[in-house]
Amino acid sequence: MKQWEENRRSFAKLLEQAAAARCGFWDFMEWLDSTDFFRAPASTKHHGSYEGGLAEHSLNVYRRLTGRNDLQGRPKSAALVALLHDVCKIDRYLPETGEDGSTTGWKYNTDVALPVGHGERSVILIQQQGLTLTLEEITAIRWHMGGFDDAVRGGSREMSEAFRRYPLALQLHIADMEATYLDEKE
Ligand SMILES: [Fe+2]
Ligand SMILES: [Fe+2]
Repeated sequence: MKQWEENRRSFAKLLEQAAAARCGFWDFMEWLDSTDFFRAPASTKHHGSYEGGLAEHSLNVYRRLTGRNDLQGRPKSAALVALLHDVCKIDRYLPETGEDGSTTGWKYNTDVALPVGHGERSVILIQQQGLTLTLEEITAIRWHMGGFDDAVRGGSREMSEAFRRYPLALQLHIADMEATYLDEKE
């Protein structure tokens, strides 16, 4: 079994544990499998720039977030936001192929169907595919880029409000950073 298929299997099992009881889950899962999510890289050059890198990154964020001992109460929400925070990267990276057809690299696709911002795109895609999120989950996924989010750089103060109201939002951001810079070093 290829690495990306193994990652897909682990990812699907954990997501099922977190969300299979929600209505719309199986349709959502079918949609996710129909996209490039499980074969996509996590980025073009930096972390996880190989087939299946995105699912692997999501699993690293899952381990970082659910491994915290100060999560308040809702472990299934923590698991779900960790696994799905980067759904926005679907269709974002296009494979570059060599003469023999093998993937030699990835390029950033500037022509996605829903260009609405990083965290926003994840939230909208997930809910549009039928998986309803709680307000806490929406807020956490939307603000997972923390201070790197374009809205913050444009002067928005809402991220602080989000982090105060929902500690999970800050914890997801930290887990994303830890996975990227500590677990996925090149
Ligand atoms: Fe992200
Ligand atoms: Fe991420």
